[in-house]
Amino acid sequence: MKTLPRLLQSIAIFALALSAPVAGAAGDPVNGKVLYDANCSGCHGSVPDAIALYAAGPDLTEIKYAIANIPEMRTRPELTALTDAQLSDITAFLATYTTTAPGGVSYQGLWWKAPANSESGWGLNLAHQGDTIFASWFTYDTAGKGWWLVVTMNKTGTGTYGGDLYTTSGARFDAFNPANVTPTKVGTATLTFTDANNGTFNYVIGAVNQTKAITREAFGTIPTCTFGTVADLSTATNYQDLWWNKPANSESGWGINLNHESDTIFATWFTYDTDGTPLWLVVTANKTGTGVYSGDLYRTAGARFDAFNPASVVPTKVGTATFTFADGNNATFDYTVQLAGMAAPVHQQKQITREIFTAPGTTCK
Ligand code: HEC
Repeated sequence: MKTLPRLLQSIAIFALALSAPVAGAAGDPVNGKVLYDANCSGCHGSVPDAIALYAAGPDLTEIKYAIANIPEMRTRPELTALTDAQLSDITAFLATYTTTAPGGVSYQGLWWKAPANSESGWGLNLAHQGDTIFASWFTYDTAGKGWWLVVTMNKTGTGTYGGDLYTTSGARFDAFNPANVTPTKVGTATLTFTDANNGTFNYVIGAVNQTKAITREAFGTIPTCTFGTVADLSTATNYQDLWWNKPANSESGWGINLNHESDTIFATWFTYDTDGTPLWLVVTANKTGTGVYSGDLYRTAGARFDAFNPASVVPTKVGTATFTFADGNNATFDYTVQLAGMAAPVHQQKQITREIFTAPGTTCK
């Protein structure tokens, strides 16, 4: 006679354990927004700040802890009166800021100072996969020499991404060796987008703290990019993306951003000079055949990043480059380069493929 109640009891416990997390995860984000606007936005902003999002794991416990313990919060009766169900809704609302569904807005592409053409000579390449943006910034060091910096930015809110800025040294481009790559943190960077084509770029490097308005750089028809909608990248016919040596990870430390608008590919190649310092070269490659794009390679000198002046930009032709695409995810990067101080030009070919840091990657069309 005791068997039946015990069985029922264990089923009840099982059902409870199963339903509790489901109830939490199923909080209503629409009602959560109403509750957030009424109770939280006054202190945490109408777009939730990083502190409020800290709990958006989504973690109800963290919000309850904050309401019970943060002096500014525990003294507000309207906050302590919120029920678990209401807080679950707020948690669900906060969670909408931390995950990008496949097919969401993609910021992938080449950006420069807004308004367009106001600071021609430096730029920012964004590779955007999932909630991560890998940015490579092409600018000039304090001596006016070409300087590139990279930052892996994580999403911190709607349209907001931040991370640490690194400068990198390595073996010269024509004798590259991933073992020699040495990244050094120099500061932090934040991107804040107001829509799909406009935003601001903030960087803090030592005592320098500057914010630039940025917009997309158009030299043809700007493609639309989406994350996660194409599983087989080889089928893509627009090549805009961050590419690196193939097989993936075989030469981590250098890369090339292909920006593909209409029949032109504007590529920014970040690699290393003959002395191992950062070197970036650019090429405007025009279509010369099916899957073939060619142009002249340039290096550029200019005014230092924190006192940039487009009038002081000096491009110097250093060679030529050709991209030959076997398909949407495989290409040959052929270049002939002679930098100052090199006795003769060097001619090399690299097999390249897209750099995927969040599967399945991003495609544009
Ligand atoms: C009266 C102002 C105020 C209101 C209203 C308010 N908060 Fe806060 N909140 C704060 C302050 C101040 C902190 C502490 C900031 C810090 O640690 O730097 C904080 C911290 C937090 C934290 C982080 C707790 C931790 O462990 O670090 C979370 C999460 C949070 N708030 C969520 C909310 C939510 C959700 C609401 C609305 C239900 C809300 N807050 C309403 C002022 C407020």
